[in-house]
Amino acid sequence: MKVTVVGAGAVGASCAEYIAMKNFASEVVLVDIKEGFAEGKAMDLMQTASLNGFDTKITGTTGDYSKTAGSDVAVITSGIPRKPGMTREELIGINAGIVKEVTANLVKYSPNVIIIVVSNPMDTMAYLVHKTSGLPKERIIGMGGALDSARFKYRLAEALEAPISDVDGMVIAAHSDTGMLPLLSKATRNGVPVTEFLSEEQQNFVIEETKVGGATLTKLLGTSAWYAPGAAVSTIVHAIACDQKKMIPCSLLLEGEYGQSDICLGVPAIIGAKGVEKIVTVPLTEAEQAKFNEAADAVRAVNGDLKL
Ligand code: NAI
Repeated sequence: MKVTVVGAGAVGASCAEYIAMKNFASEVVLVDIKEGFAEGKAMDLMQTASLNGFDTKITGTTGDYSKTAGSDVAVITSGIPRKPGMTREELIGINAGIVKEVTANLVKYSPNVIIIVVSNPMDTMAYLVHKTSGLPKERIIGMGGALDSARFKYRLAEALEAPISDVDGMVIAAHSDTGMLPLLSKATRNGVPVTEFLSEEQQNFVIEETKVGGATLTKLLGTSAWYAPGAAVSTIVHAIACDQKKMIPCSLLLEGEYGQSDICLGVPAIIGAKGVEKIVTVPLTEAEQAKFNEAADAVRAVNGDLKL
């Protein structure tokens, strides 16, 4: 499996590192626009190979997309991250131009590629890739729910004082501070609903901390996070590479699922060798469906700024 990661910054490099560490890809190509940056990151990562015991070959290029030819999967992390106090939506002006150009270059050299969109505002960037790439919908995956669900499980485990592996939960809808929908009604600890263990106050705390999970880190770090985003992307790439048919919430083009159409939003899906193998419909409560619809309205308004 050949994987291209565009953007060798914080998230792109972290993602390349996790992919290499899992040792399932033969090749990872890092692409960046900053002269020598991707080459440097690739060399640094390659010098960890003998220490960390992986055989994945990592190379870097400053914008030469011919080096990405024949990629099975490409991850788009190029663009600017948010600074403290910014929303993801404020990044659209710069990132839309970058994502559009990068997508065209990727598809030119890898017509069969599966694209994973990471750049923010992610749901809108995934929609942009659908509108401009010409790729079938099962080959475009927005990464948000995998990360947000990991943050949800972290907060649940903390509130329950339980090991993370005992906890299961999922976040759907939009990858934004207001549009995220942590499905508390379906979260479990060893199969038992978490609502049986947590007070209402604790439940609200978990939901609110999950929704502002990215903003909390941005405040602490001065820029957005990279370890968990990189790991979340690598989980999706792994599911594709090894045809795991694993259920992962991803931002996907909806055509009637969850009552929405012509929009990318986070929903659970089976991810395997073909990319999106199936969107899974989990029954939502009336209140959850209302929140899902509200998130869709907000994303649709941001999509309008693309002026497609
Ligand atoms: P960063 O600034 O560390 O890295 C971005 C890289 O993209 C830079 O090295 C830059 O030179 C490169 N770049 C810019 N224009 C390019 C172009 N036209 N072609 C190739 N490379 C180009 O930023 P970071 O922290 O890695 O974040 C990247 C993006 O991912 C941001 O938009 C951020 O908001 C988003 N993000 C999304 C998450 C998600 O869950 N979907 C989670 C975390 C970050």
